Amino acid sequence: MAWAGIIEEFRDFLPVKQNTPVVTLLEGNTPLVPATKLSKLLGANRTVYLKNEGLNPTASFKDRGMTVALSLAVAEGAQIVLCASTGNTSASAAAYAARAGIRCAVLLPKGKIAKGKLAQALLYGATVVAIKGNFDEALQLIRRIGNRPGYAVVNSINPARIQGQKTASFEIIKTLGDAPHVHVLPVGNAGNITAYWLGFKEAFQQGWSTRLPKMLGFQAARAAPIVINRVVPKPETIATAIRIGNPASWEGARNALMESGGLCDMVTDEEILRAQRWLASEEGVFVEPASAAAVAGLLKIAQNPAEQQKRIPPGSIVTVTVTGHGLKDPEIAIKQGGTFVSCSAKEADVIRTLEKITLKR
Ligand code: F0G
Repeated sequence: MAWAGIIEEFRDFLPVKQNTPVVTLLEGNTPLVPATKLSKLLGANRTVYLKNEGLNPTASFKDRGMTVALSLAVAEGAQIVLCASTGNTSASAAAYAARAGIRCAVLLPKGKIAKGKLAQALLYGATVVAIKGNFDEALQLIRRIGNRPGYAVVNSINPARIQGQKTASFEIIKTLGDAPHVHVLPVGNAGNITAYWLGFKEAFQQGWSTRLPKMLGFQAARAAPIVINRVVPKPETIATAIRIGNPASWEGARNALMESGGLCDMVTDEEILRAQRWLASEEGVFVEPASAAAVAGLLKIAQNPAEQQKRIPPGSIVTVTVTGHGLKDPEIAIKQGGTFVSCSAKEADVIRTLEKITLKR
């Protein structure tokens, strides 16, 4: 049967009723791609898979939560959905609101949104409000404004979002036949790590898996409140999606890390960019910088044999959520460079240029 979206697929495990109108773009069912070079790099029979969430309808994992949040918002008669966002949530909310035929307004930190995400929010028809403040300030405003009549907040403080996002864990287990030993993902507002852990626990309770994975989260070094255990008033990172200093689901992340025996660590912007480039050029998977933070974390662990032995024992099955597509942030990608040369349109010139480059590489 054709895939019908995560609500139809996992209806019994989601907070929807028989008569809830389903707002869907057929999200979910994303590929779990074997990462052969990454597996080889870790060595000792470790196998790494990438859960490629950039292949959702709006090119990030947010769509899993948004189908549930928008379906419930419509059922409750909301006229406007609202969110604060570093970009992806706004793109997803705008798309699902368009689908549902209701209004959407998004609060974004001015000048800190990747171009692809802004393009999406605008074209899907949201009202885009750029505030002179960061994501944490935008979310504070949403908390205050959001309970007006007719409004529905679709940030991950809305439990429907977490419920929808947990379905990624279900899919991983269905594909592998069991839970991985280790699950790795980037952490910003901490909704997703909370959701994955919930999904892994529920699947275990259902008897779909024989184990629970250790959760490994990675934040950007200058936006790592969970790692340093302190609010970061002015978070900074080139991975704008996770430029967050006071995560709303801090508690959920803490539980996931503690209960799973996992760890939250940080990676620098340089490590993030290197990992982004490495994943694209070695595995053929182009992800946005925030997603590359998870891969950077894995590469960081691999550099320290004792740490690797402890965190990712030999023979481990490791799944990594790559949360958003690389095309979301073309500016960062182009800045990273590559082999780009100009040439005349003459055949001889083109051949000479090609040969010169090929020899040089
Ligand atoms: N990766 C990407 C691509 C994201 O967009 C986000 C969060 C995360 C990772 C972190 O997930 O917040 O659940 O810990 N983006 C939010 C947004 C904040 O507004 O789009 P998290």
